[in-house]
Amino acid sequence: MLNLQSKFNEIVYLFNMRKKIVAGNWKMNTTVPEGVELAKAVLAKSGEVPAEVKLIVATPFTHLCPVAEVLKGSAVGLSAENCADKEKGAYTGEVSAAMLASAGCQYTILGHSERRQYYGETDEKLVEKVRLALANGLDVILCVGENLEEREAERHFDVCGAQIKNVLYNFSAEDMKHIVVAYEPVWAIGTGKTASAEQAEEIHAFIRKTIADKFGAAVAEETTILYGGSCKPSNAKELFAQKDIDGGLIGGAALKADDFIEIGKSF
Ligand code: 13P
Repeated sequence: MLNLQSKFNEIVYLFNMRKKIVAGNWKMNTTVPEGVELAKAVLAKSGEVPAEVKLIVATPFTHLCPVAEVLKGSAVGLSAENCADKEKGAYTGEVSAAMLASAGCQYTILGHSERRQYYGETDEKLVEKVRLALANGLDVILCVGENLEEREAERHFDVCGAQIKNVLYNFSAEDMKHIVVAYEPVWAIGTGKTASAEQAEEIHAFIRKTIADKFGAAVAEETTILYGGSCKPSNAKELFAQKDIDGGLIGGAALKADDFIEIGKSF
């Protein structure tokens, strides 16, 4: 049985059934005109990236409509960086999943460590956010990852496993078709410190197994798992060559179209 299972995994891997994705998380950077220029530059060079690699830009809320106009009809996807955990109503300053869909988004990032750390995003809230995003036709890029203290205490498997279980185990195998996971070790974000390819692969494989435990091997094998944390043109190749790393969620390097495109060419 185990043998059959690993044969199956091998075949899925060989046939490249998982989507490869390189997504740029712009975070709170660029003014609207700067963002529009960046999107235009990414679009202009997107043809250099192999067709099987999906490029996505995740922009601040203010940029979504004009960037959607730029990307209209192209293969470059548009994502938000967050959405509200409520459907609609008196929640001043929040932006709902329905609003994002109507602005032209196809994706939203959820559970980024910066939101968990600075804005009190909990797994409970994330369940609601994922539910609303999916209900409004958005695909979700769900971020998980341990901080430095947790890594040093060798708790990274526990932490990432719990984040996956607390959020994703509330959803169905069908929902999983619309969910991408991004492993982003907090100690590697914006620090210039990247997880080694081995460190990243080890935890990606663990995340895939945690998904398989609930949804079965077929669903797990089709789930795209991205690496994020100081991913750049110089290290993307080695990271993306790992069996369970299906692309990247890129911060700083996504603010330069050339670097972002270079990363897209790194498979
Ligand atoms: P950096 O690539 O700047 O480390 O950021 C990673 C990240 O947080 C992407 O979501």
